[in-house]
Amino acid sequence: MKPWGSIKGQEVGLYTLANAGGMQADISNYGGTIVSLRVPDRNGTLADVALGYRTLDEYAVSAYSPYFGALIGRVGNRIARGRFSLHGRDYRLATNNEPGGLPCHLHGGLKGFDKMVWKAEPFKRNGAEALRLFYTSADGEEGYPGNLEVIVTYSLGADGALSIEYEAHTDKPTPVNLTNHCYFNLKGEGEGDILDHLAEIRAANYTPVDKGLIPVGTIEPVAGTPFDFAAPHRIGERIEDRHEQLVLGAGYDHNWVLDGQGGLLSLAARVTEPVSGRVLEVLTTEPGVQFYSGNFLPLPGALPPMIGKSGKPYLHRGGFCLETQHYPDSPNQPSFPSLILNPGEVRRSVTQYRFSASAPVSL
Ligand code: GLA
Repeated sequence: MKPWGSIKGQEVGLYTLANAGGMQADISNYGGTIVSLRVPDRNGTLADVALGYRTLDEYAVSAYSPYFGALIGRVGNRIARGRFSLHGRDYRLATNNEPGGLPCHLHGGLKGFDKMVWKAEPFKRNGAEALRLFYTSADGEEGYPGNLEVIVTYSLGADGALSIEYEAHTDKPTPVNLTNHCYFNLKGEGEGDILDHLAEIRAANYTPVDKGLIPVGTIEPVAGTPFDFAAPHRIGERIEDRHEQLVLGAGYDHNWVLDGQGGLLSLAARVTEPVSGRVLEVLTTEPGVQFYSGNFLPLPGALPPMIGKSGKPYLHRGGFCLETQHYPDSPNQPSFPSLILNPGEVRRSVTQYRFSASAPVSL
């Protein structure tokens, strides 16, 4: 552990997980944040493919927090108007986001799990370096019912997979939707945009949204739309199409309904960067994935600029996220898989970000 400062007297550290293939992940117990992720290209050259800041202060005081690399909870994604009802009681949550002028609750509220100091315990499992993080969210925190105990385990396998295992217990029924918000650029953080990356998503359907980015409630086929990533497409190929959903999302910022999700760990998405050859495969037990193409990262010339950890500016679409999760606004959408965790139950999910490199092109 490398000391990385403190937040209100609580020590914060950086924990490095490494594997034999040369991969390294630096994870902080502040927000359980993936601060850097060094991954080899097809020639073995390492690049840090995760966007992030250099110092803890930038994560902690940045007025504009884009949730770089952070764990998200208690409920990731949006809840319409910050309201939901459960067992006849109405709950009001902070509204901390307002797309299209419609206020909603986003990523756990004003102080979500991304802004908490977690207890950390590094360990080894079957030869892999791992980090267990613990956080207890008190009954009433951010308006949610029940004391929620959360354990997140990161481990870095010899196969190039950074695994994230989530576990949660509660003492009152509560919605729970945990994810990680890492922004990737497989060329390396700060190396331009991600529009040339090739993406595949294993989903025949998605959940279209209204102007507040809240699902309208239907599950619609992606076939014949710019949302169809069954075969690989450049992220930028159709992103400027005048498709209503792309206009509403200012690009891709939607939930894909993953095929064949029976709680088994299965491939959700694959992204390839053709020049470096780096490949990211995302596997998950979750039923959905929010594919976000970094549309809210600043446009060139915007002030103040957003400067990443190696001094390079982060610009519009300079990173993409694949946030594995249940569907947005699930507490208000009876037809979506339920987020409710009850006392006595254990909520478990697993997501893997698995890195490899495509074979060198022979000359
Ligand atoms: C999620 C949302 C986006 C945006 C980012 C954070 O991915 O879906 O709309 O709010 O978080 O900037």
